[in-house]
Amino acid sequence: MSNSGFPISGFPSFGTDAIHAGQDPAKFNFKSAVPPITMASTYQRSDTGIPDLTNGKYIYSRLGNPTRDCLEQCIAKLENAKHGLAFSSGMAAITGCIQTFAKAGDHVICGDDVYGGTNWYFNNIANKNGLEIDMVDMRSVDTVVSAVRDSTQIVFFESMTNPLLRVVDVAAVAEAVHKIRDDIVVIVDNTFMTPWNMRPLDLGADIVVHSATKYINGHSDVVCGLLSTNSSNMREALFMTQITLGAVPSPFDSYLVNRGMKTLHLRMPRHAENAMKVAEWLEANPRIEKVFYPGLPSHPEHDILKKVARGAPGIITFSTKGKEENATKFLKSTKVVTLAVSLGGYESLAEHPASMTHANVPKEHREALGITDTMIRMSVGLEDADDIIADLENALKVAIPDGQF
Ligand SMILES: Cc1ncc(COP(=O)(O)O)c(C=O)c1O
Repeated sequence: MSNSGFPISGFPSFGTDAIHAGQDPAKFNFKSAVPPITMASTYQRSDTGIPDLTNGKYIYSRLGNPTRDCLEQCIAKLENAKHGLAFSSGMAAITGCIQTFAKAGDHVICGDDVYGGTNWYFNNIANKNGLEIDMVDMRSVDTVVSAVRDSTQIVFFESMTNPLLRVVDVAAVAEAVHKIRDDIVVIVDNTFMTPWNMRPLDLGADIVVHSATKYINGHSDVVCGLLSTNSSNMREALFMTQITLGAVPSPFDSYLVNRGMKTLHLRMPRHAENAMKVAEWLEANPRIEKVFYPGLPSHPEHDILKKVARGAPGIITFSTKGKEENATKFLKSTKVVTLAVSLGGYESLAEHPASMTHANVPKEHREALGITDTMIRMSVGLEDADDIIADLENALKVAIPDGQF
């Protein structure tokens, strides 16, 4: 099994929780076994005034919706959290958190290797709104600690970074930051890992966010964001942001993500198994320059991963030999693997970070991090591993002919 050797054995009842949390048929009309999609934007009232919204009462669907509630309760359970909130996208969840806990003049520490959209938000929007941003290598606890200022309000990073797949010791970072000041909000984007592999709140983070568009939904047919926290005060503040900005998922999208989440515990082990086979094959391939996959013992943070997670997900980054043209020709030559951004769906996807997901990260920043023009990020899907490998082999031979490597 691909993830053998990981000391964290897993979270008890994960599959049962994924299937049943937030989903009690006794609460649904007709006792339906699956949550109904409640499309209503408004609800009949028996009285005037503002009812207690926390008690299964609804007045207007931006403020609360029964289908969204099922999703929020389920993600909270899977993250071992008290509270969950759903947003219309991962970016809405991330920017909602930052707007809630930082104001003009405050300082925010952000991991230096993050999704291109997150990078853009911090360096082109949050900074213009008066936030001071430092982007630092989260693998070094000392670097993080020395970046903390009196005005630091938020430390934000990805538990496994995009696209370099660096693994952060979430427990060490959260502990060091909270030791300096326990009111600094530590926010972890756990999109790549998923709660199946890692639970950042158990490791000391304050808030965990997801682009649920990825593994959590798992079927590449919804854009959605989720966050979870154990703090009731943070939940209240984030809830006001959620309902006031109005960046909420539709009832139909809430239903689909909740449905996708029911099989997360079945999909993640298969993603990991396939990814390990592909990573080992790539590592032995003469046309490949370098493979970044934290499940491989050769990955620099393989031991950190074993400390903070129970396994690796299905994403592999690798660079091809030759020039950028060879890498892009490879991407255009696959037949099973689709050339597309995004990740975490049942189908294999591959993309070129330098010209796609991270094109808006300044070239100097990309080069300093090591995001090269021959780099490819692949989301290994749930197809048969032998077919994925045969497709990669064929495309590599087309893109980098014999004698050119
Ligand atoms: C790690 C990570 N976080 C956040 C996002 C943004 O999510 P969304 O596209 O759902 O807004 C992405 C999107 O690719 C991502 O990869």
